[in-house]
Formats: sequence, C-alpha cells, structure tokens
Amino acid sequence: MESACEWFQWLSIRLKCIVPHLRFLKNALKTERESYLPKRTLDGQAEGQQRLRLEALVTERELVSQKAEAFFEDLWKQGDPWAFETSDFERDKYARQLAILQGHRYERVLEIGCGNGCFTRLITGIADRVVALDISPTAIAQARQAAARSEATDFRIANIMDYDLRAEGPWDLVIMSETICYLGWLYSLFDVAWLACQLLSATSAGGRLLMANTCGGVEDYLLRPWIIRTYRDLFLNVNYGLEAEEIFYGTKNGVDIEVLISLFVKPSNEDAGTNK
Ligand SMILES: C[S@@+](CC[C@H](N)C(=O)[O-])C[C@H]1O[C@@H](n2cnc3c(N)ncnc32)[C@H](O)[C@@H]1O
Repeated sequence: MESACEWFQWLSIRLKCIVPHLRFLKNALKTERESYLPKRTLDGQAEGQQRLRLEALVTERELVSQKAEAFFEDLWKQGDPWAFETSDFERDKYARQLAILQGHRYERVLEIGCGNGCFTRLITGIADRVVALDISPTAIAQARQAAARSEATDFRIANIMDYDLRAEGPWDLVIMSETICYLGWLYSLFDVAWLACQLLSATSAGGRLLMANTCGGVEDYLLRPWIIRTYRDLFLNVNYGLEAEEIFYGTKNGVDIEVLISLFVKPSNEDAGTNK
C-alpha cells in the first residue's frame, strides 16, 4: 500500500465483501438454535412474531398428544383390541421376543407402549425393575390388574413423547414393540428421530433396545415394510449396534404375518454426546 488512504480504501472494500457473509452466518445460527429450542426466550425485533409462531408449534404438539390419547383410550375401552391375552400368534411372538433377550439379566427396564402388560409380565423373570408405560389409562388399569401386586413393576400412564427418559435412567433394556408405527403416524419424522437419539442417551453403555414390528402380511399403511425398515435404520443411524435380528412368521385371524424383531445394543464405549 502506498498511502494510508489506499490502505483504508482496500480495507473498506474487504469489509463490504465480508459483512453480508457474517450476517448470513449469524442468522443461520440463530434460526438453527431457535428451531431446536422452542421455549427459549427470543430476542431481536421479530420477537413478538417469533414467539407467536413458536407458541403455535407447542400447541400443535399438545393437540397431537391429545389426539393420541383419545385414539388409544377409545381402543382400549373396547377391551383387548389386539387380542394380546388370547391370541396364539401374540403368545408365540412374545416367546420369540423373550428368547432373543435370554442369557442376560437386566437391572432397569423401560417398556414403551406396554398396552395391557402381556409382555411386561414375561419380562419380570429377567429384570430387577420394570417401568412400563402407556398413553392409555384404561390399558394401564388392565395391566395393573393382570399383574397383581408386583414391587418390581411400575405401570405408568404416560406419553413417551413427553416422558423424561433420562430422569430415571439409564436403562439397561428398552422395549418398544408394535408401537413406533403409531409415533410415526402422529408425530413428525424429526420428533421420532429425536426420540431415537434420546433413547440412546438414556440407555446404559452395553444396554439393549428390543423392537418388534409387524412388517408384512397386514394391509395397513403404517406397517408397510419400507417404513418399518426405516424405523429400524433410524436406530442404527443414531448409533445403536445391531446385536441380533430375525423375522417371526405367524398367522393371526387367518392372515400370514411377518414381524421384524431387532435387538440393538449401545456400544459400551458410546458416550452420550457422540450422536449429536
Ligand atoms: C399395538 S399396541 C402394543 C402393545 C405392547 N407393546 C405389545 O406388544 O403387547 C401399541 C400400544 O402403544 C400405546 N401407545 C401409542 N402411542 C403411545 C405414546 N405416544 N406413548 C405411550 N404409549 C403409546 C398404545 O396405547 C398401545 O397400547
């Protein structure tokens, strides 16, 4: 630079080029933070508008929860909608699920969407303590009645999407059978993926996750093989390893059905932050 004047000219040109990029970066970061943390206090001139938008999102989610509770409560009020207590197919499927878990004893177990607790009762043989939750109060009432008094099992009315997974964890075994298809039906892909990620964080190192999902034979859009395999892959993507997997074949109400049973394990060197 020959003079101070030229030097200032050079600097001002450079700053003009850089400033829009910095502004873009600042806005991008702000948008990302806000979309992931809806309850966070916002600042800036669009605060009022943003808050309204975010409050609307929270309300929308609450509405989904209400819809879920009403839907499943309505079903369970009709009795045992999937015939879990009486169906040979369900009995044999539970036996396969239990067999895949054998060989280990689990200290703390979480069952998500336990329904009337048929599988929960089988799990108590290999677990020290089980928290089994379901969104339907009627399902939980049935489960409590059928289980008689058991200190080891705690049946709870709760929506898994609002449940604090870490508060009582870490879990040595998480069970979620024939339930994720309903989460995917009512909640966004992001919400289901976030749950998968939170489950990994709340699973103890070396702990397991068992999923069993109907994926063939039943004419139901929620149970299409490609969506069921997508849920399975989601758990691999958040960093669970696949320890065992099999297809259970059975017949229910004259229909030949396939169920994908997957046992995932959290790698023992996994730390809660690596999937962020
Ligand atoms: C098909 S049943 C499976 C019951 C049980 N897992 C079994 O295999 O015997 C699905 C269960 O998930 C429950 N459910 C659905 N959405 C839920 C949610 N968001 N939170 C907790 N439970 C839920 C339903 O009430 C229902 O009992």
